[in-house]
Amino acid sequence: MTEQTTRYQPIAIMASGKGSNLKLILDAVTQGRCPVDVRLVISDKAQAQALEIARSAGVPQVLHINPKAYADRAAFDAACAEEIDAADCRWIVLAGYMRILSASFVRRFRGCIMNIHPAILPAFPGAHAVEDALVYGVKASGCTVHLVDEVLDGGPILAQTTVPVFDDDTPEVLHARIQIEEHKLYPATLARMVRQGFCIEGRRVIWNDE
Ligand code: GRF
Repeated sequence: MTEQTTRYQPIAIMASGKGSNLKLILDAVTQGRCPVDVRLVISDKAQAQALEIARSAGVPQVLHINPKAYADRAAFDAACAEEIDAADCRWIVLAGYMRILSASFVRRFRGCIMNIHPAILPAFPGAHAVEDALVYGVKASGCTVHLVDEVLDGGPILAQTTVPVFDDDTPEVLHARIQIEEHKLYPATLARMVRQGFCIEGRRVIWNDE
């Protein structure tokens, strides 16, 4: 069971790419819509735009940690975990983080890692969700915010938003439509998590009364 009510909880964000979700979370924090304290941003990619976005926003600690400097996935994840613990972060928010987390990392932060995925889970897990949804021929897709466990894109679902899929959609067009919703859903869900809290019954996330 996870429950929390404290405001301005310290969080770490991990991102590998262009960082649009990171940016919208940071904007929501600045605008007072999301009561978290982003203490640390970690990227596994030196060139990730996310790093620049975090620096410009004044995040106190912005780190590139190079996976090639570590013997294996677990060692790299342990290095990230050390930084997260040193910054005393309560939540870990994955925002376009393209590495699969080791089981030891997930165990260490069980129930405290969240991710956003560009499909309506459990449909289309994995790295090619948008393409897979189009190829399958679904008429609606969307995005899912979920807790992270050992199963790829398999943890309890916190929130979802759907979007229509049109006949002439390309992966890029559909992804752009999904990202419009991601940018609203992720900061809003993070804020709800901090303000309202939840408990877990089986696989179900039950939000506390407001
Ligand atoms: C998003 O579509 C998210 O669902 C997926 O990776 C993408 C990251 O986009 N996990 P950005 O880097 O936040 O723009």
